[in-house]
Amino acid sequence: MTKRIIWKFFGAFVFLTLIAVFVLNFFVSLKLRDHFEQKITRELRSNATLVGDILKDDLTEARNQDIQDKVNTLANKLDLRITVISEQGAVLADSEKAPASMENHAERLEVARALKNGFGQSTRFSDTLNYNMKYVAVRIDDVNDILGVVRFALPLSEVQLQIQVIHRVVLFGAITTLIIALTIAYFVSKTITSPIRQMQQTAQRIAKGDFSGRVRIKSKDELGQLAKALNAMADELQQKIENLKRMDTIRTDFVANVSHELKTPLTLIKGYIETLEDRAIDNKEKTQKFVSIIKDHANRLENIINDLLSLSELELSKDSLAKTTFDLKALIDEVALGFGHALDTKNQTLTVSAQGNDFKVTADADKIEQVFVNLIDNAIKYTKHPGRIDISIRQDAQDLTVIVQDNGIGIAPEHLNRVFERFYRVDKARSRQLGGTGLGLGIAKHIVLAHNGKISIQSEPGKGTKVLVTLSRK
Ligand SMILES: Nc1ncnc2c1ncn2[C@@H]1O[C@H](COP(=O)(O)OP(=O)(O)OP(=O)(O)O)[C@@H](O)[C@H]1O
Ligand SMILES: [Mg+2]
Repeated sequence: MTKRIIWKFFGAFVFLTLIAVFVLNFFVSLKLRDHFEQKITRELRSNATLVGDILKDDLTEARNQDIQDKVNTLANKLDLRITVISEQGAVLADSEKAPASMENHAERLEVARALKNGFGQSTRFSDTLNYNMKYVAVRIDDVNDILGVVRFALPLSEVQLQIQVIHRVVLFGAITTLIIALTIAYFVSKTITSPIRQMQQTAQRIAKGDFSGRVRIKSKDELGQLAKALNAMADELQQKIENLKRMDTIRTDFVANVSHELKTPLTLIKGYIETLEDRAIDNKEKTQKFVSIIKDHANRLENIINDLLSLSELELSKDSLAKTTFDLKALIDEVALGFGHALDTKNQTLTVSAQGNDFKVTADADKIEQVFVNLIDNAIKYTKHPGRIDISIRQDAQDLTVIVQDNGIGIAPEHLNRVFERFYRVDKARSRQLGGTGLGLGIAKHIVLAHNGKISIQSEPGKGTKVLVTLSRK
């Protein structure tokens, strides 16, 4: 199992959240504890002041027994220890021990402070009670006299118990926050990492040669753009691979076709020569007939080989073009003239029309002638008589466009984009019977492309075919 990026994100989130929660918790606890202690002290102080008020008269008149009784009752009600101390430090009353048995309290920190400032507090171990205590002492005044000190004592454990409750509440809050934060962190990590994961899986499929996968991410951020780029790359690769595959089949087809096309006339030639050897050699008439057939097939072989040569020559370099400047319309008129006989035998008419007055182009005239020979040858071959072939020339600022249009048998759409391939014939038997090898349009296309021109074909079965050739004037 590979390490997943989500856990890196999530780990970082967890770490940050933990730090944040603990730091916050620490300060909140500290502050709350402070606040709470102050509150307890304030309460004790005001209660002690109140007790002092209650004891004022008794103190003035030194009614020690009354003081002791009241101290007992009040300590009981307030649930803490109360001690009353004279200005000299003598214990006058105490809610838990006999005052007579207690030593002088003037030196006790909270008492000394209360006598001096009116209020004092301290926290210390009580020898009398044997545990940590919090002491709060308040001075009792009567106009100019000091009547004594009222001291409250509270076990520290009780204070701490209350503070612990606060701690627990804060801790509970922290844990709740932590859980909520982590849940959010998990989902945020997931939203960030899921597109990454999707892309990783798609890329892996592409690496294995499956180009069909696409990433579905619509966000406009960097991830969205990355996904878009990945999809574009997959599109491009898929197209390239398909092209390569197509080229490969074209190549194998080509080799098979060449062999076949060359083999057929050769087999025939061989057959005629053998027959000639066996029997016909003495018959002059027969010999002449055979030789003429052999010559026809040899011519056909030569034509095919010439076509193939000119194709590979065109593919090898564009530099082999012998460019001159000539009048394209004049060239087409001349080519058309050469087809006079063929047109007459098939009872077809051919017209050449032109728009404009300047048909000069700079190109390889022999090659361009070959293009139109092939196109007109096709138009005649694949049109039943009586047919019409119209050639029109249009002139633009930059280019000349020639349209060769016939009203012949046409080409079905499924064949249309393949007719430029070498040896591709829609109807093999028929085409061969008409003397075609399937190289004409392939040659035409290569010549036009070598001139940086454009060639396209439009056709409708039964209606006719239109081939458009665009050549740049320069
Ligand atoms: N004008 C047209 N009308 C109908 N079909 C056509 C036309 N031109 C070409 N085709 C079809 O396209 C195929 C390829 O044409 P192409 O000129 O390359 O070969 P070909 O005419 O069969 O042989 P070649 O031109 O080498 O003698 C033809 O076999 C034919 O089926
Ligand atoms: Mg042809």
